[in-house]
Amino acid sequence: MIKPNNCIEGLIPYVPGKPVEELERELGVKGAVKIASNENPLGPSPLAMKAVERELAGLNRYPEGDSFYLKRALAEALGVKPENLIFGNGSNEVLELVARTFLTEGDEAIMGEYAFIVFPIVTQAVGARRVTSPMPGLTHDLQDMYSRITPRTRVIFIANPNNPTATMVGREELEWFLEKVCDDIMIVVDEAYFEYVDDPDYLDTTSQLDRRRSLITTRTFSKIHGLAGLRVGYGIGDAEVISYMNRVREPFNINSLAQAGALAALEDTEHMEKSRRVNALGLEYLTAELQSLTLNVTDSRTNFVLVEFGRDPMPIYDALLREGVIVRPVGEYGLKTHLRVTVGTQAENERFVAALRNVMGK
Ligand SMILES: Cc1ncc(COP(=O)(O)O)c(C=O)c1O
Repeated sequence: MIKPNNCIEGLIPYVPGKPVEELERELGVKGAVKIASNENPLGPSPLAMKAVERELAGLNRYPEGDSFYLKRALAEALGVKPENLIFGNGSNEVLELVARTFLTEGDEAIMGEYAFIVFPIVTQAVGARRVTSPMPGLTHDLQDMYSRITPRTRVIFIANPNNPTATMVGREELEWFLEKVCDDIMIVVDEAYFEYVDDPDYLDTTSQLDRRRSLITTRTFSKIHGLAGLRVGYGIGDAEVISYMNRVREPFNINSLAQAGALAALEDTEHMEKSRRVNALGLEYLTAELQSLTLNVTDSRTNFVLVEFGRDPMPIYDALLREGVIVRPVGEYGLKTHLRVTVGTQAENERFVAALRNVMGK
């Protein structure tokens, strides 16, 4: 039988979690709480749901190939031009488009050792080499990343804040990096959790567009807007850079329901505000409760926490499952003593804490 390309054989596939219903059936539990995938616990934007419903009757038509209305509205909201935007089937696809456009066999891409797992996947899938930079304190170390640049470096990925560590790099460090790295290297700053960050030290990298051309910021409708199932993400960058990425983009990659839903979600400031508020309170509650159990939690700027157990957490993970609480192991990242927990509704957070206390005998 035919073999795949060399680079594909070595790829470790992304392992998705099981559907909740399947787990409930296997474990014999009901009403399980899933706080495992950094989804919005309040549900989708209600305005988006209505817009998707209205769109259903047009499903016989192909979608707008260029996400025309969504692109114009988003450009206006961000204060950029439509030509600065590219949409993807989730920001995941935008990351893939970056790799397909700017990386090829023999090239190197630098990323943090605990950086978002899609970075190594898209890099290796095109035959490029992943160069790993250590993350002391579970935070990107931009000085170290800079020191790893070679003539083969073409792309540098930074998730800010990062998943699964929940940590962010500060304004001064990132500004220094964007200035220092030469412009024939593409810097990708993945801002999937942008809307949750409330920290004056955070750098919104779209503000750097006119200072650096080889820069792409990625964001998503999957998190604060609650539309992970629709799959809409986007990249913001220099018009020429975006035009190259558009050459490899599949023409109808954003389906019509997704375009309509995302467009409506942009207007839904009420849902966004509420999501932000509930998340901030939940983050505070979870952090305090976990610390009271003498567990370490990284300083989260996101909608999840990374919890350090100081030992193999899988028995705790399994016991939580039996209590009907699904969290996320992060061993695939090399984090063998941590679990990642998404901030849920207050009721979900309390259920998790109660289950954890029970499991830990406290
Ligand atoms: C850092 C980071 N980037 C990107 C994504 C991908 O999001 P999506 O493809 O749903 O836009 C995620 C999702 O968890 C993430 O954590």
